[in-house]
Amino acid sequence: MSEWQEFPKIELHLHIEGGAPPEFIRQLASEKGVSLEGVFAEDGAYAFRDFGHFLQVYEAATSVLRTPEDYLRLTRAVLAESAGHGVIYTEMFLSPDFCGGRDLAAWREYLAAIGEGAAQAEREHGIIMRGIVTPIRHFGPDKAKETALCAAETAGDFITGFGIGGDERAGKPRDFAWAFDCAREAGLRLTAHAGEWEGPDSVRAALDDLRVERIGHGVRAIEDPGLVERLARDGVVLEVCPGSNVALGLYPRLEDHPIARLREAGVKVTVSTDDPPFFRTTMTQEYDDLARAFGWGAEDFAEINRVAAQAAFCDEAIRDAIVKRLEAAP
Ligand code: ADE
Ligand code: ZN
Repeated sequence: MSEWQEFPKIELHLHIEGGAPPEFIRQLASEKGVSLEGVFAEDGAYAFRDFGHFLQVYEAATSVLRTPEDYLRLTRAVLAESAGHGVIYTEMFLSPDFCGGRDLAAWREYLAAIGEGAAQAEREHGIIMRGIVTPIRHFGPDKAKETALCAAETAGDFITGFGIGGDERAGKPRDFAWAFDCAREAGLRLTAHAGEWEGPDSVRAALDDLRVERIGHGVRAIEDPGLVERLARDGVVLEVCPGSNVALGLYPRLEDHPIARLREAGVKVTVSTDDPPFFRTTMTQEYDDLARAFGWGAEDFAEINRVAAQAAFCDEAIRDAIVKRLEAAP
C-alpha cells in the first residue's frame, strides 16, 4: 500500500460521471441491453485519443445513466472509491444536462437520489460530499441558463456551488455571465474551468466576466507572470488536476507540469483527479506522483489540504470538522 493512501485528503474537482469505474458503466449497459461501442480499450479501460474525443467518450459512457437510481448507485460507488483513498471531503460536479435534461422536477428527483447516496456513503465511510451544479460549455449559453435555474432552485446545504465544464474552446466566458449571475444571486459559490485548453486570457475572463473565486485547472496561467501575480495577490484557488493534464496531453510529463512553480509563486493550489478512471488515476496516485516528481512530503500535502479546506464550498461547521480531521492526522 502506498504511504499516501490513508493520508487525509480534500478533493475539490471531481465530475460525478467521470468517477464511474468502467466496470460500473459496463454493468449498467448490460442491465439495460445498451451496446457501447468505441468507449473501452481492449484492456477494459476507457479509450480516447485527445480532449475532444474524451468528451465524446464521456458522454457516450454517461448515456447509460438514465434514472435517479442509477445516480444513487454511482454516487455510492464514487464516494466509496474516494474514501478508500483517504478523501474525507469531496465536491462533485453535477450536471442537470445528464440528470433529467435540465427539467427542474426531474433534476430534483436525481438530486434526491444523489443526496441519498451521499448520506449512505457518509454513514458507511465518513466521507462528506457537496455538489457543484455544472453546465456543459459546448452545449451553449441557453442550456447553461436553464441549468442555472435548476441550480438556483436547489441551492442549499448540499448544492453549494456552481461551475462550468465541457469544451473550454467553445464560446467565451462572458456568454455564460447570465447563468453565473443567477447562481451568485441564489447564494452559490462560483468556479469555472479555464486555463486548461485556452491560455491566460481565459483565466482572466473567468475572473472578470464570471467573477468566480476558484478556477478549475487554471494551470496555463503560468504562461503570463502578471496573471500569476494577480492570482497570488487575490488568493484565487486553483483546482489543479495534474494526472488529468498529463493524460490528456497538456504536458508531456508530470515533471513539466506547472503546479510546483505556481505554488512557489504563492498561488493557492489544490490537488484533484477530475475523472479518475478515465485518466487511470486516484488521489493516492496523484500524491505518489507529485511526491516523486517534486519531492513533496507530508508537510506539503498537509498545507495543500489546508488550502483546500479554506476554499471548500461548505458551511463553517463542516469546515471546522474537516480541518479537525486534517489536524488529527498522524
Ligand atoms: N468534463 C469532465 N472532465 C472535464 C475536463 N477535464 N475539462 C472540461 N470538462 C470536463
Ligand atoms: Zn474538470
